[in-house]
Amino acid sequence: MREIKINPVTWYVGANDRKKHLFENNWPLPYGVSYNSYLINDRQTALIDGIEFGADPGYLPKIAKILAGKTLDYLIVNHMEPDHSGMIAEIVGKYPAVRLVGNAQTQKILKQYYDISDENFHLVADGGELSLGTTRLTFHTVPWVHWPETMVTYDATEKVLFSCDAFGGFGTLDGSVFDTGNNLQEHYVSEMRRYYSNIVGKYSGMVQKALAKLSGLEISMICPSHGLIWKNPAEVIGLYDKWSRHESEREVVIAYASMYGNTEQMADLLGSMLGEKGYVVHTYDVSKTHVSYIMSMIWKCKAVLLGTCAYNGFMHPMMEHLCNEIKIAQPKDKIFGLFGSSTWNGAGVKSLSRFMQENGFPVLENIVEMTGSYAEEKMEEAGSALAVAVAESLK
Ligand code: FEO
Repeated sequence: MREIKINPVTWYVGANDRKKHLFENNWPLPYGVSYNSYLINDRQTALIDGIEFGADPGYLPKIAKILAGKTLDYLIVNHMEPDHSGMIAEIVGKYPAVRLVGNAQTQKILKQYYDISDENFHLVADGGELSLGTTRLTFHTVPWVHWPETMVTYDATEKVLFSCDAFGGFGTLDGSVFDTGNNLQEHYVSEMRRYYSNIVGKYSGMVQKALAKLSGLEISMICPSHGLIWKNPAEVIGLYDKWSRHESEREVVIAYASMYGNTEQMADLLGSMLGEKGYVVHTYDVSKTHVSYIMSMIWKCKAVLLGTCAYNGFMHPMMEHLCNEIKIAQPKDKIFGLFGSSTWNGAGVKSLSRFMQENGFPVLENIVEMTGSYAEEKMEEAGSALAVAVAESLK
C-alpha cells in the first residue's frame, strides 16, 4: 500500500493484509485486516505503531522515502501485541539510534519480546509530552484496551488521536483510508462490531474508562491501528460508547447446535413465532457459522436464544465453544432463552442451563425441551410461552 499524506506533517504508512485467514489465529478475516502505521515528519521524526512482521516488504523503504535522508528519531509503541510491534527489531536494525517511546508496562513487555537496549527506550508517564518541532505529542494510558500497557498518542497541534486498537475494525482499506471515502453502513460498521465484540468487548468497562479519560481532548481526527481513519470522530466514538455500554437493539439472535435437524426445526419455529410478533430474528447453526459472527450478533441483539441437542451427556461441543466465548466476552443486559432436544435424558439442555447458572447469566424460566424427532405439536405450547416471555422482556 502506498504512503498517504493525512495532514501537513503526518503520513499513513500502514499495510493491508489479505493473506491471513485468522486474526490471532482465531477470528476469520474474509475481508482482510489493515495494520495502520503513521509517520510524523517534523523537525524530529516519529513512527507511531508498526505493522505485523512480513505484512508489507515495502514498509521500511516507504518510511525511508518519506524521511528522504533524515533519521527516525522515535518509534512510539502504543501497544505491544505483535500485529503492531512485529517490525520493531527491523526498525531498530535500520535506525539504531531510534528511541522507543512507551510507559513502564511497555518497557516490561518489550523486554519479553525483543532484545532492545534500555538506551533505546524513552519512558513516558501517563500525560507525558514529547515535542517533535511544531508537533506536540501527549501520551495517555488506556490499560486493557487491549493489553495492560496500551496507551494512545495525541497530536495536540493537529488534534489527531492515534488510538491503536481502540476504534479499530476488521477489513482492509480499499480505495480510501478515510471514513469519508467508504460505505460505512453496509460493510465497515458490521466488521467493526465483529472486531469490537471479538477483541475488545471483554474489556468494555475499561473502554468506558478510556472514553471518559479522553473526553477532555479536542479531537478532529482518529487514527486507529486497524481499519478506517475517522475524519468524523463523533461517529466512531458513538459506536464504541454504545457497544461498551452493552446497549443493544430489540432484535433476536437464535444460535443452535443440531445433529439431525430436530433442534434446528425448534430454532426455526421459535424464530417464526418471534418474527410473527414483529421482531427481526437472526438464526445461526453454530457448527456452520464461526463463533466470531455469532458473538457480533449477540453484541447487537438484546434477546439471545441458545439451543442444543444432547451430546455424550452434555451440550453439543460447538455450542460449548460458543458458550465459552460468551463466558469470556461477558455480554451484559441480555435476555437469554434456552431450548433443545434429546432422546433419553435431556443432558444437552441441562448442561446449557448449568452453564448459564454457574456463570451468572439470567435465563427466562420458559425453557423448551423436546424428545425424539421434531413435531410442531411437541413444542408448540412451550415454544409459544418462550416467545411470549421474550417479547414481554423486549418491550
Ligand atoms: Fe491490534 Fe491488540 O492488537
